[in-house]
Amino acid sequence: MKRIRKAVFPVAGLGTRFLPATKAMPKEMLTVVDRPLIQHVVDEARQAGIEHFIFVTGRNKGVIEDHFDYQFELDSTLDQRGKAKEQAALEADQPKAGEASFTRQQRPLGLGHAVWCAREIVGDEPFAVLLPDVLVKAKRSCLAQMIDAYNAAGTACNIIAVEETPMENISSYGVVGIGKQHAKSFEITAMVEKPKREAAPSNLSITGRYILQPEIFKILENQQTGAGGEIQLTDAMIRLAKDQPFHGVKFEGQSYDCGSKIGFLTANVAYALDRPDLAPAFRAELKKLLG
Ligand code: G1P
Repeated sequence: MKRIRKAVFPVAGLGTRFLPATKAMPKEMLTVVDRPLIQHVVDEARQAGIEHFIFVTGRNKGVIEDHFDYQFELDSTLDQRGKAKEQAALEADQPKAGEASFTRQQRPLGLGHAVWCAREIVGDEPFAVLLPDVLVKAKRSCLAQMIDAYNAAGTACNIIAVEETPMENISSYGVVGIGKQHAKSFEITAMVEKPKREAAPSNLSITGRYILQPEIFKILENQQTGAGGEIQLTDAMIRLAKDQPFHGVKFEGQSYDCGSKIGFLTANVAYALDRPDLAPAFRAELKKLLG
């Protein structure tokens, strides 16, 4: 079985839900504590052993590329000021030369289309997709748990991270049907993008983390528009599931849907309370606020 070496990050979305913050700045650069959302998600991928980071960007997303570049002036200023710790931290976050690729989704045609835009860079190997709207706080990175399940399944399958979701929110997500259990995963029997509550095959929603076989690209090439008039990744996966197994992984950890304001604000609180340098003072401030 081929190792999962490459990850695709679709970062072309307009971020209309966060206006005016996202008028001149990509939503992926919104910070949870002191790291941009996209950096948190790249951290997760790196912890899972990913070696090549592929960003599908769009207009006004240039600062994402700058964020992952070496900043000569900044580095030499930190050097002059003797800030070796900050220098080392920036260097650790930065992909090495050649480890990051950027391609543009020229039109906002949907998530499936964004993933398809990465086909030439991914090539003929299985790959991961991570949606930067979703942060997963976990002891072992969510993608690493998925790769564990992929290796345990022992076949060239596709893997989707899923989580239990209250039925009143289920129609905001892709939803899977539950089949035979395996050691670290279960067989997926159905997938529906944003179903009506009555039509949802379970309460397990798709979390925004995928391991996909490269055959998905051929399907995406001809994929018709689906929910919301967009080319949906879920619809292409439904087609691929006719030929290849799909497994769901109920990961251990807490997800935060940072595409919503409540999820984003909650993520900031949760990540700050996990920081030894911030938690005691922040907790005291929160107590005051909450009375
Ligand atoms: C996308 C996927 C959906 C998934 C969700 C997770 O939807 O299409 O299946 O459940 O991400 O956040 P979006 O939130 O982009 O509408």
